Amino acid sequence: MDLGIAGRKAIVCASSRGLGRACAHHLAAAGCEVIVNGRDKAKTESTAAEIAKATGAKVTPVIADVSTAAGQAALFAAMPEPDILVNNNAGPPFRDFRELDRQKMIDGVVANMIVAIELIQKAIDPMSAKKFGRIVNITSGSVKMPIGGLDLSSGARAGLTAFLAGVSRQVAANNVTINFILPGSFDTDRLGHNMESVAKNQNITVEQARAARTATVPARRFGQPDEFGAACAFLCSAHAGYITGQNLLIDGGAFPGAF
Ligand SMILES: NC(=O)c1ccc[n+]([C@@H]2O[C@H](COP(=O)([O-])OP(=O)(O)OC[C@H]3O[C@@H](n4cnc5c(N)ncnc54)[C@H](OP(=O)(O)O)[C@@H]3O)[C@@H](O)[C@H]2O)c1
Repeated sequence: MDLGIAGRKAIVCASSRGLGRACAHHLAAAGCEVIVNGRDKAKTESTAAEIAKATGAKVTPVIADVSTAAGQAALFAAMPEPDILVNNNAGPPFRDFRELDRQKMIDGVVANMIVAIELIQKAIDPMSAKKFGRIVNITSGSVKMPIGGLDLSSGARAGLTAFLAGVSRQVAANNVTINFILPGSFDTDRLGHNMESVAKNQNITVEQARAARTATVPARRFGQPDEFGAACAFLCSAHAGYITGQNLLIDGGAFPGAF
């Protein structure tokens, strides 16, 4: 399918690896000019070069911490008026909620709620003026199905979802959409590290930990980042202008509700 976004400009935050990288790759494959972002210089540059080689698109690495004002300024200096913004950031570490002091809670809310809002504030008016904008926020399946120990992540991301539910209706008439993709278990570095700690804590092998987690997913497998990137690119496409304020759960059927 031609997504109808060739020539569009896309900032994909936190995209040197994992789900963000897959989104950047699919947008580049659709003909977009893409900013790839991460804090690790070598990894961010190699990812940008690999995506450019595979797709023929212009892909620019921006080494920056998206959580900081300087990092956000660097992203917008490299691409001042993006047509597409994919918000992504690291999630807070797994922790019992009793261990969260005030500063840790503030850091989590900043990383998984405030940063996305700040970036949208910077991007949205030029999108509205151009009558085209696509904003996708990578959140988590935990927004709908909380996971003990990831309470800060769930709460901050649910806050972002509610905040932007209103904003999405304010800009819909300008063909600017704001949607959310909620990953379940995707086979990325983050999931790999999580499986390593589960294995260590339960004194089992990593393979056993992966098998136990996979058994909880009706699809009986982890998602592949490529599947996630394809869905993201569709939500950013010319065809998706009537989809806004929506939460797309991609979890192999793990969420057990009908709605
Ligand atoms: N994978 C899953 O199954 C899953 C499930 C639910 C939710 N999620 C959420 O989805 C998001 C992406 O997860 P993932 O699995 O793709 O993670 P990942 O494999 O660990 O990749 C994270 C990416 O974000 C970049 N990054 C992290 N912090 C950054 C910062 N402050 N500034 C700029 N770049 C930053 C990393 O690069 P650098 O380290 O070089 O900065 C890397 O490119 C996370 O918020 C995660 O919590 C994932």
